Amino acid sequence: MNTKYMTKTVQNSIKTAVLATVVSFGGHVSHAQDSTLSAQGAKVFAKCKACHKVGDGAKNGVGPHLNGIFGREAGSVPDYKYSKSMTRAGHDKLVWTDETLTAFVENPKSLISKTKMSFRGVKDPEQITALLAYLRVFSDDPSNIPEAEPTAKGTDHDIDPAILAIQGDPEYGEYLASECQTCHRVDGTDAGIPAINGWPIEDFVVAMHAYKGKIRPHPVMQMMAGRLSSEEIAALAAYFEALE
Ligand code: HEC
Ligand code: HEC
Repeated sequence: MNTKYMTKTVQNSIKTAVLATVVSFGGHVSHAQDSTLSAQGAKVFAKCKACHKVGDGAKNGVGPHLNGIFGREAGSVPDYKYSKSMTRAGHDKLVWTDETLTAFVENPKSLISKTKMSFRGVKDPEQITALLAYLRVFSDDPSNIPEAEPTAKGTDHDIDPAILAIQGDPEYGEYLASECQTCHRVDGTDAGIPAINGWPIEDFVVAMHAYKGKIRPHPVMQMMAGRLSSEEIAALAAYFEALE
């Protein structure tokens, strides 16, 4: 089984198992670990500080403030001017959770293709865990956030390099694309549905796998991507990249 795209049930049962382990060692363990983790996370947050503020009176800067980020809908801070992409994600009901934040921090474009957050991402899963523990401190009632167990992790949303390395066959992609083009306009204009012509292959592949893994929220696209193999996604990526 491909662990990258574990079903929710499997992920949840792993989480439950990990949680059970933590609890069986006594409630204190998770607390003690939590505070050291958030202290480590404060250091990781140095990477974000130039653009984001947290804590009392945090204001929007280059990026929106990150207070109360857990459970917050994407693109929802009033008075902050988000990209169209981020606003759309919010309309699709993308909510910032452990899972979506991990994916976004790892590779912002995986979730929000045309985000104006120009940041390469944090690749180290331990740094991300620590960072999220730190951000939790600034969310309402963090102890009630179910994913607060520091060890209940092990999700890796970064795409397998082997998948990115697949050379797609653009002719096969053209054949598959007719279905897509009932919605995505062939002439590349955006009529409510985003244009996908001329996209860099990697962005395309990452976006499609994020729908397939149901990290991106849109149900129609989740279904479309869910039916495609990695080879078919690569073929479509090769075809669409070459379109104007
Ligand atoms: C160079 C500036 C910059 C850096 C560095 C940066 N961000 Fe951002 N961030 C932005 C901008 C700009 C946006 C708004 C993006 C948009 O509208 O597409 C944003 C948006 C976000 C959002 C979505 C917020 C919302 O209200 O929906 C989160 C979460 C986030 N950033 C987390 C982080 C974290 C965590 C780090 C550090 C690991 C980080 N960012 C580093 C500029 C930055
Ligand atoms: C029934 C209409 C429909 C069909 C068919 C469809 N899409 Fe989509 N697609 C959408 C909508 C709507 C969005 C915007 C979803 C969102 O906000 O996340 C989207 C988003 C996307 C995105 C992300 C664009 C972005 O800017 O982030 C990609 C890539 C994509 N589709 C590829 C495809 C491919 C490849 C196919 C064919 C296999 C396909 N779509 C078929 C409606 C459709």
